[in-house]
Amino acid sequence: MTQFTRKMTEILNHGALNLALALGYKNRIFDILEELNRPAALSEIASATGLNQRYLQEWLGIMVSGEILELSHAENGLEYYFLPPEHAAVLTRRAGSRNMGVYTQEIPLLTSCAMEAVESGMQTGAGVPFSNYPDFQNFMAELSDAKLEKELIDTFLPAVDQGRLIPRLEQGIRVCDLGCGHGVAVNLLAEAFPKSRFTGIDNHGQAIAEAREAARTRGLANADFRTLDAAALSSDPAWAGCFEYVLAFDAIHDQSHPLEALKGVKSLLVAGGLFSMVDIKAGSRLADNLDHPLGPFLYTVSLMHCLPVGLNDEGTGLGMMWGREKAEELLVLAGFDDISVLEMEHDAFNLHYLCRVPGSASRS
Ligand SMILES: C[S@@+](CC[C@H](N)C(=O)[O-])C[C@H]1O[C@@H](n2cnc3c(N)ncnc32)[C@H](O)[C@@H]1O
Repeated sequence: MTQFTRKMTEILNHGALNLALALGYKNRIFDILEELNRPAALSEIASATGLNQRYLQEWLGIMVSGEILELSHAENGLEYYFLPPEHAAVLTRRAGSRNMGVYTQEIPLLTSCAMEAVESGMQTGAGVPFSNYPDFQNFMAELSDAKLEKELIDTFLPAVDQGRLIPRLEQGIRVCDLGCGHGVAVNLLAEAFPKSRFTGIDNHGQAIAEAREAARTRGLANADFRTLDAAALSSDPAWAGCFEYVLAFDAIHDQSHPLEALKGVKSLLVAGGLFSMVDIKAGSRLADNLDHPLGPFLYTVSLMHCLPVGLNDEGTGLGMMWGREKAEELLVLAGFDDISVLEMEHDAFNLHYLCRVPGSASRS
């Protein structure tokens, strides 16, 4: 076998494993195996998960041959399956921000949403409408839940503006989350800082409806959500200077008109206002991403989603791997001239672009 044939064999096996991991994650099998915390027989796993034994048997074959689960035998030959704790620690919902299981769903989801559309887009150059991805917002909400629940309040915000943002949030300021999706961040923030007011903006009406419903269920009177196109904000005087702080998590690079959106952010802010843009840590040149540990994965997510949705509406089509140099260029073009690019201890795969509008923030 040549080295490349070996690599191709690994690719086929790992691609298949990703799909089977996603099915296991969706059916909560890892969570249940972790709770069992001991080797379990097929019949036991079937009754604990409520899944069909025959399907489960096939799935267990993939997990054991893929070295995700360990196989052992009783004296009578009965097979037992075990999820080692160090695997559970990055595969289950309980793993919080270390949960990599949630990411296994991404490629299968995007494949089922957009395989044919991207195949044809590659021939014609056409974008793929957001409506092709009906389950994407749910997935993003699940991802944000996993990523943000522990980190947003305890780790991310205390690092903003060298700790000066937290007391202002405690006293009461106006905050906007642009591209808020299901409002996971807004609702966490609104709960943590009851004297501040939070507005989530997204152009996806269904996501905004879900965000509103989540805020209502949690009794959050200081969270508000609007269906708006970020690219239109800078031309709407009603929104000018309405916020002391704006954040955009993973929400600029897949917009059709990202520069207009960033101009919109600038116009939303008061003098002295702050903008936190959190986006993928990469270089704008392919050559700078060759050692990226998730390079092929992120470029594939971009090909299957970020790029085609960003091409809609005669869009720019930046793609997820637009990179630091391009991001800084657009921030400057949008009018931000005080930009700090910060690494995040809790999130090795993103950068935090902290931008400050000149002037002093007067209102609390
Ligand atoms: C990758 S998701 C990130 C969602 C959320 N910030 C998170 O971290 O989970 C990008 C979001 O940007 C929104 N979006 C895309 N284009 C937009 C536009 N022109 N105006 C407002 N929101 C937009 C999408 O609907 C989606 O909810």
